[in-house]
Amino acid sequence: MAKIEAAFVEEFLSLADGAVAQGWHEANAGNLSYRMPPEQIDGISGSFRQGAWEPLGLAVPGIAEQFFFITAAGSYFRDMRADLEHNAGVIELDDAGTHYRVRWGFSEGRRPTSELFMHMLCQEAKMIASRDANRIIYHAHPANVNALTFVLPLTSTAFTRELWTTISECAMVFPRGIGVIDWMVPGSRELAVASAEALEIHDAVVWPHHGIFCAGDTFARAYGLLSTIEKASEVAVKVRSMTTAPLNRISKEDICKINEAYALGIPPELIAAVFQ
Ligand code: 13P
Ligand code: ZN
Repeated sequence: MAKIEAAFVEEFLSLADGAVAQGWHEANAGNLSYRMPPEQIDGISGSFRQGAWEPLGLAVPGIAEQFFFITAAGSYFRDMRADLEHNAGVIELDDAGTHYRVRWGFSEGRRPTSELFMHMLCQEAKMIASRDANRIIYHAHPANVNALTFVLPLTSTAFTRELWTTISECAMVFPRGIGVIDWMVPGSRELAVASAEALEIHDAVVWPHHGIFCAGDTFARAYGLLSTIEKASEVAVKVRSMTTAPLNRISKEDICKINEAYALGIPPELIAAVFQ
């Protein structure tokens, strides 16, 4: 199979390498999709093959005829660089957004990630919500976010409060807060629908006792968002392991000051809900 050389491939691989080094991708944990802009499709179309159309199992008309670079089901992030065409590939959606075909990669009969429903529904929701800016959907299994899902109420306000009040940067990096949905079966349509709904409001959504996924305009933004959330979660886990009554933490008033100083545009109602 023809190799593809493109700047986005290096960005894809460096996210994978960085995330493996962070310990977020044991075995085949996690998956990643990139909605390709037309000029990048043209740049690699010489390497494309004509796969057969297959039903997607749902309809995503908002992203009909778009191309995605996406990881394979069962692929290990640590192996992406060594054998990309086995561990990822390019899929194209048909004009109704109900079928896809493989154009590159997925060698030896591999298929797109088992979270394909989630990636397609979230790519569609976020493309519309961001007016075409969002291109990345990235799912990982970081340990500290997961640990917090055992001790915090499974609500967006509880997680947003915990993280905003732990590290000053959090309110700046995710001023719309962080989403949290109920536990659901991995790869299920139900999980995909709930995730896409939460993503219309947030850029990151926690899957209790499983992991988290983030959206971003670029690979660096999605990775940076996940890193910020996981760093704050790690601090929160350490603090909670030391004491149930920390002496100090960032207050509601501090968040209001950051909001003003950096013109974050966090609505007063959101601050009120987070600190109620
Ligand atoms: P895939 O290997 O199918 O991408 O599944 C990994 C995962 O994290 C499922 O939630
Ligand atoms: Zn997962």
